[in-house]
Amino acid sequence: MTTLFKEESHAAQGRNGAGAFPKIYVPNDAADVGFGVEHFLAQGPALKLALRQHGALLFRGCGVNSADDFEGVLDAVSFENMPYVGGAAPRRQITHRRIMTANESPPDEKIPLHHEMAQTSHPPDYIFFYCDTAPTLGGATTVFDSREAFDLLKSIDAALATQLEVEGVRYTRVMPAETDPGSPIGRSWRETFQVETKADAERVMQDQGMRWQWLAGDEVRTESPLLPAVRHDPVSGRKTFFNSVIAAFTGWNDTRNVGHRAVQLGSGAYLPSAVFEQFLASAAALVVNIPWQIGDMLWLDNRLVMHARQPFEGPRQIYTAIAIESE
Ligand code: FE2
Repeated sequence: MTTLFKEESHAAQGRNGAGAFPKIYVPNDAADVGFGVEHFLAQGPALKLALRQHGALLFRGCGVNSADDFEGVLDAVSFENMPYVGGAAPRRQITHRRIMTANESPPDEKIPLHHEMAQTSHPPDYIFFYCDTAPTLGGATTVFDSREAFDLLKSIDAALATQLEVEGVRYTRVMPAETDPGSPIGRSWRETFQVETKADAERVMQDQGMRWQWLAGDEVRTESPLLPAVRHDPVSGRKTFFNSVIAAFTGWNDTRNVGHRAVQLGSGAYLPSAVFEQFLASAAALVVNIPWQIGDMLWLDNRLVMHARQPFEGPRQIYTAIAIESE
């Protein structure tokens, strides 16, 4: 990277096939400029390239001091905005156009590793986070490189890795009529699909290739189309564990859902619990926890990297936005 940013290392940092994970940037004091949004404009293409290789970039102290600055950076680097339709998490809009709160589920619960919206047919290519208020305790965002995840699963159970790759997966989730803030997957179908009526919800589900069944209390049981669970990263030539399987298996538990029954292979079989638990235990050694500081901005290539949230105490405010690759 050129003179405006310089790389920094951190004890919590990990490594992946590209090197530092995440790659951490701070302002280069030698450049002797007041740091701000305009610097991202100049460096945009180089930063995007680094993101495609490393999968995760953290910017610390880089003059991003508000939701508007955060939005300004994403605009400056020409990340194409994507509206948040189809996601499971309760969240609020912060700016009119592209910034929302991160998942507002209860602080004492961990949000498990996932690729954003990998349970839908059109997941975003990028997800971004910005720290407005750091928690007093905990609340790190965890990242896990999906190229490493695929290699790990293959080393534990090559047959299961192949099954996931060949058969794909389906996700089943029951959504409430009104958002349930007591559940990490409690977003109502009205908010999830951004509609008011059942007829409009059905149109969106139809468009997304889902099957559905209305239940008592206007809850709806949805079944995703068969989705790929393994993809190919053309940049590194490696396979990625691109799916929402970990999140669904470990985290889709509430009064309406049971995680171990939320994922099915294309054949209809459920995941073998013992093998999958072993995979999760081994994965714990490969993930990286990034503790937040105010003004931190984290960019993730959602095709390459999963994220999770650790439990926390205090008034944590993390903002988020998603984007698609512009052609
Ligand atoms: Fe997420």
